[in-house]
Amino acid sequence: LDPSLDLVAEINRLRKEKNAVILAHYYQDGAIQDIADFVGDSLDLSRKAAATDADVIVFCGVRFMAEVAKILSPEKIVVLPDLEAGCSLEDSCPPDEFEAFVKARPDHIVLSYINCSAAVKGLSDIIVTSSNAKHIVNSLPKDQKIIFGPDRHLGGYLARQLGREDMVLWQGTCIVHEKFSEKELIKLKAQYPDAPVAAHPECPDNIIAHADHVGSTRDILNFSINSPADTIIVATEPGIIHQMEKAAPHKTFIGAPGADGNCSCNTCPFMALNTMEKLYLCLRDLGPEIQLDEETRVKAEKPLRRMLEMSP
Ligand code: 13P
Ligand code: SF4
Repeated sequence: LDPSLDLVAEINRLRKEKNAVILAHYYQDGAIQDIADFVGDSLDLSRKAAATDADVIVFCGVRFMAEVAKILSPEKIVVLPDLEAGCSLEDSCPPDEFEAFVKARPDHIVLSYINCSAAVKGLSDIIVTSSNAKHIVNSLPKDQKIIFGPDRHLGGYLARQLGREDMVLWQGTCIVHEKFSEKELIKLKAQYPDAPVAAHPECPDNIIAHADHVGSTRDILNFSINSPADTIIVATEPGIIHQMEKAAPHKTFIGAPGADGNCSCNTCPFMALNTMEKLYLCLRDLGPEIQLDEETRVKAEKPLRRMLEMSP
């Protein structure tokens, strides 16, 4: 790329020319969040993708999120700056193994976290995100047997919180949220005794145990901005701190530490594959494009639509 190219101006020109909407997740680089038409958590981004009248959706997030956009808006061109932007939760749940797991428990309803492949969605009854999971689980009868995949930490959190201890959990994890160190977090809390901890439910239970607030990225953002405390410890991917600092510049937001005592090791390596250069290129070239075969798309659409209907 010509280094003299004004990426911001080019992206702005191209998005008009192509009638494109740029959607970004809170874990994206700050410059990408700043140029996006909309920044949100997984649920808000899927709602936006379903409702947009743009011709092109440029999804700055990971591949499963862009796939959700394509599943809900199949007539649109959906592009992702880097097609290699996967997710460890998706990787930890191969569809053929999940299918056998589900088939072995025919009397269970299958709830899947949105962080999974389109094929796994197609094996599910209802999709959930971290902002609607509690509500959706609570709307099922108490004696309803539930399989929850692929995140064992979100599943374990729901089971404990909602008294659904018999929920059958697929044993997947997010490599980013698993990196937080309880020992280092305790040290940080001792240093900032008045700072509340806001944590994402993808964190293991030994981190959740120290949290004053647990929720999706949007929930964590709202909690952190509205909390009367002037210092907040944030136990999720540190990309979200960008929006916190914009909304409450007088406050201090500290990313929860990993074993090395700082938060940079908790950057999501998949989210980080998207850059401003790749965003420009994918708008210019309208690729890489998300392609799904129609059978897979239709199967995945049903549980996603159910999620949208059941979400508060
Ligand atoms: P939410 O934005 O829905 O909280 O999801 C977090 C996440 O890990 C996305 O990959
Ligand atoms: Fe997947 Fe974890 Fe990255 Fe979210 S933070 S995209 S769950 S690997």
